[in-house]
Amino acid sequence: MKNFKSIFLGLFVITFSLFFVLIINTNAFSVDTCVDCHKDKKFRVQDKKVFDYFNKWKGSVHDIAGVTCVDCHGGDPSKAKKEQAHPKNLSPADASSMVYYKNIPETCGKCHEAVYVNFVKSDHYKVLKETGRGPVCTTCHGSLVTNVYYTSIVLSTCISCHNQQNQNHPEVINTAEQILHRLNVSQGYMKWTSIHYKKKSGELIKLNSLYQKIANSWHQFNFATTEKDSNKLLSEVKALFHEAYKGKKK
Ligand code: HEC
Ligand code: HEC
Ligand code: HEC
Ligand code: HEC
Ligand code: HEC
Repeated sequence: MKNFKSIFLGLFVITFSLFFVLIINTNAFSVDTCVDCHKDKKFRVQDKKVFDYFNKWKGSVHDIAGVTCVDCHGGDPSKAKKEQAHPKNLSPADASSMVYYKNIPETCGKCHEAVYVNFVKSDHYKVLKETGRGPVCTTCHGSLVTNVYYTSIVLSTCISCHNQQNQNHPEVINTAEQILHRLNVSQGYMKWTSIHYKKKSGELIKLNSLYQKIANSWHQFNFATTEKDSNKLLSEVKALFHEAYKGKKK
């Protein structure tokens, strides 16, 4: 009986201390004065822009992944006062700001390294650094990344700089459309196969990483290579799909 009591007491102490550790930790991580202040509904009337940006971020892939204002803007998210929280170079018009147009690839690239190392090899990046006018990550993805990369958005973005009028490689539109189409179709096949053909999960993992590699290397905007890679992916994915489909009919 005594034994039972001490086990019970021991368990109680352990549970209680775990509970405390948990509380302290969640508190330490949940201090984000940027979000706490910016979410205030009063900005809807007082400062519409501030409210709109918060609203776009809320529920975005980044919000869900725990990426917040400070990750793209800098500043100190432990300070409650605006003046202390905001970095000196907050405005996107300030050439040293993290979101100054020319600095955007570096800001996003901190986390999206695999994309970044490809992007810096592109003509787009070269033009950006030379003239300040090449497209950056946010030109195609949006700054708060609510509209990720649906084919239609991307194509309408490309057309504003690549068209018959300005003769700046208008042929890339067609090629881009085909590449993105292949990637989309491949993804559809892969989804079906992963549900119906568990046996081949090893092959699927390989195809998934090929897909990932193409999504990253696409950012070099060197389409000769990307065309070849996307064709290879689609034909391999199709072959596996047909095998799976036959297997299912049996
Ligand atoms: C106590 C409230 C408060 C806190 C804390 C706060 N902000 Fe702000 N923020 C504002 C207000 C109000 C504005 C509108 C412009 C102004 O009054 O300076 C603003 C404007 C901004 C802007 C737009 C700047 C521009 O030039 O248009 C950005 C970006 C921003 N805040 C990011 C942040 C980040 C990042 C943090 C945390 C590190 C943060 N804010 C913390 C209240 C706050
Ligand atoms: C993934 C990166 C990213 C995150 C996260 C992010 N922003 Fe931004 N934000 C940008 C970029 C890039 C710009 C500049 C381009 C633009 O205006 O679209 C910007 C611009 C702004 C502006 C307009 C500034 C101006 O003067 O034009 C405001 C306001 C703003 N952000 C507020 C916020 C707030 C508040 C949060 C957090 C709730 C936040 N942002 C989170 C990338 C981000
Ligand atoms: C602090 C790290 C961080 C920063 C800075 C950041 N991101 Fe992200 N981003 C993430 C994480 C984490 C995810 C969700 C997981 C994933 O898809 O990689 C994500 C997701 C995305 C996605 C969706 C990917 C998908 O497969 O659906 C896009 C597009 C994206 N980010 C673009 C940007 C752009 C553009 C910027 C700069 C304006 C930026 N990110 C800045 C960490 C970051
Ligand atoms: C000219 C347009 C364009 C620019 C500039 C651009 N992207 Fe993309 N990005 C795309 C398209 C289109 C896709 C979709 C490819 C696919 O189907 O996976 C994509 C895909 C992505 C993905 C998802 C990849 C995955 O894992 O599925 C991320 C993350 C991303 N881009 C981040 C960035 C970052 C960070 C930058 C800047 C360094 C950037 N992009 C610049 C058009 C662009
Ligand atoms: C803000 C303008 C702008 C946007 C938006 C843009 N581009 Fe470009 N792109 C350029 C410039 C400028 C060049 C460099 C042209 C040169 O040096 O001859 C270029 C070069 C290219 C090249 C290399 C062409 C070659 O054969 O050398 C490809 C491929 C390309 N872009 C694809 C795209 C695609 C696909 C999109 C949309 C997802 C896109 N671009 C969006 C401005 C843009």
